[in-house]
Formats: sequence, C-alpha cells, structure tokens
Amino acid sequence: MNASRELEDRLRAIVGAEHVLVDPDVIASYCTDWTGRFVGSSSTVVRPASTAQVADIVSLCRREAVTLTLQGGNTGLSGGAVPPPGALVCSLRRLRSISEVDRQSGQLTAGAGVTIADVQARAESAGWAYGVDFSSRDSATVGGSVATNAGGLRVLRYGDTRAQLVGIEAVLGTGAVVSHLGGLTKDNTGYHLPSLLCGSEGTLGVVTAARLRLVPRETERVVALLAFDDVAAAVAAVGRCRSALASLSAAELFFAEGVALVCRSFGLRPPFAAPHPAFLLVEASGTTDPLAGLSAVVDSLVGVADAAVASDESRRAELWRYREAHTEAIATVGTAHKLDITVPAGAMADFVAAVPGVVDASCPGAQTWLFGHAGDGNVHVNVTGAPPGEERVDEAVLRLATGLGGSISAEHGIGLAKVQWLALSRSPAEIAAFRAIKRALDPDGILNPGVLLPTDPEALS
Ligand code: MLT
Ligand code: ZN
Repeated sequence: MNASRELEDRLRAIVGAEHVLVDPDVIASYCTDWTGRFVGSSSTVVRPASTAQVADIVSLCRREAVTLTLQGGNTGLSGGAVPPPGALVCSLRRLRSISEVDRQSGQLTAGAGVTIADVQARAESAGWAYGVDFSSRDSATVGGSVATNAGGLRVLRYGDTRAQLVGIEAVLGTGAVVSHLGGLTKDNTGYHLPSLLCGSEGTLGVVTAARLRLVPRETERVVALLAFDDVAAAVAAVGRCRSALASLSAAELFFAEGVALVCRSFGLRPPFAAPHPAFLLVEASGTTDPLAGLSAVVDSLVGVADAAVASDESRRAELWRYREAHTEAIATVGTAHKLDITVPAGAMADFVAAVPGVVDASCPGAQTWLFGHAGDGNVHVNVTGAPPGEERVDEAVLRLATGLGGSISAEHGIGLAKVQWLALSRSPAEIAAFRAIKRALDPDGILNPGVLLPTDPEALS
C-alpha cells in the first residue's frame, strides 16, 4: 500500500514537513541503485534526523503495516536499498553527527549518515586512521557500510566493517532502541548485537550510529603495479606477498581488458609499453618507509614481467586509478550484472580461467570483466551485454564459485540480486535460523522486505 495522506501527515509530524518527500521527480533518485539494474518505486521518502525520530517512524509503520526500505548513500551494488512496491524509503543521510576521536582508546562514534570519507578525515585529524576504505567512500555512509558489512581495499590488513565495530545503536523492527556505544574493548556479556546487525542488510533493525575502532595512522606508503604474463603466477604472488611482507596493506588483481577499458574511458596512458594479461597492485604501508621491504619481496616473485613502483602521492594515485576506475569504466559499457564472489585462495586462478566460458555459455555475446581483492580471494565478476532481467548468467557464475568451495557474496551482500541463490551458500538449518532471528527482531516483516530472505516463507526453506 502507498502512504496515505494521513500517514504522510504523521510522518511530517515526526520529521518536519520538508523532510517528507513526495515529488516523484525528487523520489526517483532514491528508487534506483547505483548499477541501474534494480529499479523500484515509492510514493514517499522520509528523512529522520535522530534515533528517536527513526524509532517513531518504525513504530508508526509497524502499527500501520507499512514496509520501509532503508537507505544510506545508495551506493550498494546488490539492490538492497531499492524499494519494492508499497515501501516507504527511510533515508538515514541526515544522521550526520560524529564524535571527537577518543585518542586514548582510538575510537569514535558516527551517525548512520556520516560518510566513510568523513570518518577517515576525522580519524586522521587526531592522528589515527579508519581501517575500511573503498572507492565510493565520498558517498557511502556508516549506516550502509555497517548494514552490508562493507569490505573494500584493506580487508587483508584490518578486516571488514564488522571487525571495526565496538558498539552499535539501532532501532529494531519492533520499534525498540538498542544502544551500546560505550566503547569497551572487552565486554563479554551475551549476544553481540553489533555482529548480528552488521551484514543483516537492514532486515533486523535500522542502524542509527556505530562506535568504530580506529587503527594507527601510517604515514609511509608505497605502491607497486606488477604485470604478469600468466594469471596463475599473479595469484601465486599474492600468497608470497602475504607471507613475506608484514607491511602489505592491499593486493588487487585485474586484467588486460579492464585496464584497456579504463584507459579508453578516462584517457589514461597504458601502464606499460608492452601488453600483459594480468596485473597485481600491491601496497605496503607503515610508520617507517616500506620501500626496501616491498622491493625485496617484488624481486623474489616469480613471473613479474614489468613493474612500476611509486612512493610519492600523485604517482601512487595514478597507479591506483588503473584499479579503482574499473567500476565507473564498466558502467560506461552498459548495465552490469555484478557478482562479488569469493573462492578459496587456491581456487582463484581456476575460477578466473573458467568464468568467461561459463558466462558465454549462459549468455552468448555477453562480456566478462574481472577484477578484485586478490588478498581476500574476492573476484568481482561484472557482466555487460546481458539484459538486466537475465538471471541464468548470475546463476552460472554463482554455481561456479560455490562449486569451487566459494561464497556467492564476498562483500556486497545478498540484497535483491542474489536472494534466490542464498541456499548455494547457506544450509537449510542456517536459513531457518536466519528466519527465526528475523521473526524475533522484526516480527511483522516491515524492514527491507524481499532483501536477503525471500518474502515467501516457503522459498529456500
Ligand atoms: C570495488 O571493489 O571496486 C567495489 O566492490 C565496487 C565494484 O565491485 O564495482
Ligand atoms: Zn570490492
């Protein structure tokens, strides 16, 4: 059901008239995800500015049996923040309070609407750093990153978002507020709600704030872009870097087709004079210059055909661009199917070799673009040239990954995009436990319906 006039008036009473959006032209941008593959519809966007307002909205929606789609920076890539028919969009971007850094504990508290870039800047202003980083840092929000357990470029060094969470504040689907933001590093008092809510994709509660652990700020950084003529050698090099280079902070794998596309899309020169099939970008960082250590490890790697090493900031950024610009470059080709699979480290080369054939067999003529976080076994499979609704290609890639012992999502989450394949990665007993938790914390199923778990209770059970 769409929001009635009366419901809109009650939402206005909670957040103020200017924060209940009903103009379809304004609402349109809240109804499509970044990829453009998932398009929803909604009559109303409500923009609370405090946890109390969120609690009032959830309680009102529960009483009126109205569903809510939760949204932060709308940078998700699995359709998890796209409203199904009848849902209101609850945008958390106005929850922008951020505490000073507690310099003693190395922590801060950030509202759901604070961007990742703002957390990073606040941490750095106090001599600390935030361990999570990814390309959409300027728009992606703390709430969204907690809800999806965002990963990104530094997981091999600092872990995912869940690993940074010391505490959380959230409004459950019951309307109850759970707040545990005291920041105790050791607090062994029962169920760890931050871990449960993190990665629950807004299906259990609305994250309104997070207490985040910071990491030491590293002032010295070196980046090496390595070219390989053999994918297996590039993958093997990741293992060597991980074991031999304590200062390793990123290991990113990408391929000739993606680099050529990035260069074409953004007018960049190719990184090396000669073409190479595979590239590995490794970054080392610390409080002392990691150049000597990185160079020694690079010299010991087998199969490096070309290398560029950079210490100064602008050259480092140039090398990173070949990797970070992949997402936007692929978007210029068409609407991509984005499959963020993960496989065991030992299976990554086999997966990379097999996936283009699997894509072509399920959708002839479609193009495959691969890149990813090699240190985590996480390959981003992007497929263009397949209609948005064509799901055979998704299924074929996800089955290939799980057949090799992998998972259907490394970091983007299940969202709407992979909900029908959850059982490839989770057992019936696990899915039954998920449903029981959902029933307990969101008994009327008003939060993010259709995301993560199918709305049909029989499906996947
Ligand atoms: C990345 O690693 O760049 C992000 O996960 C975005 C993407 O997969 O396109
Ligand atoms: Zn990624």
